[in-house]
Amino acid sequence: MGKSKTTDRSFKNNTGMRIYLIGFMGCGKTSIGRELAGVMKLRFIDLDEYIEKTEQRPVSDIFKLSGERYFRRREHIALKELSGQDDFVLATGGGTPCFHGNIYLLNRTGISVWFRTGEETLFSRLYASAIHRPLIKDLTPSELTEFIKTTLSAREPFYRKAGIIIDGIDTENTKLSVTKITEQISSYQVAPGQTR
Ligand code: S3P
Repeated sequence: MGKSKTTDRSFKNNTGMRIYLIGFMGCGKTSIGRELAGVMKLRFIDLDEYIEKTEQRPVSDIFKLSGERYFRRREHIALKELSGQDDFVLATGGGTPCFHGNIYLLNRTGISVWFRTGEETLFSRLYASAIHRPLIKDLTPSELTEFIKTTLSAREPFYRKAGIIIDGIDTENTKLSVTKITEQISSYQVAPGQTR
């Protein structure tokens, strides 16, 4: 996709589109991403699921048995593979943009969209689903609060490089959130030669 390409407002012909959803765990990338892909008539891919398929084991096992460094290398390889394809909405993992220069790869090959979410909202969503998430499953509530604070502030410089930043994503009202995103994507244009 050329950098100066303006997206098609009607989403009837999205040939060559790559939409990358980025943001902290629990910000709604997967749930909103599925619906966004439907509206935009694009394929939906979840990066964790893609890695799980190629590795034939869950992300939690990859972390437990091979460690985070291995996972991050696997994640980068998966991204390189997918960024060579077209016509998808990809929900990345919360840490994806922050390792191996991935944010630059995303911005070179498509449109990155950050779902900016406050610490309190993240806490309430993650507290309820921590068991499935290897990085936080053993944390007490106060440790989880601290983890969100420190990890979010370390990751924000990467997230901030997104082409589009969306506030107030509501996972309970997916229709409204999807409309917000499609409006921004429709008007998104990167000036030729501009880098993010
Ligand atoms: C991670 C987030 C997870 C998954 C892995 C690491 C992170 O994805 O990639 O557990 O570092 O924040 P989700 O953001 O989809 O939960």
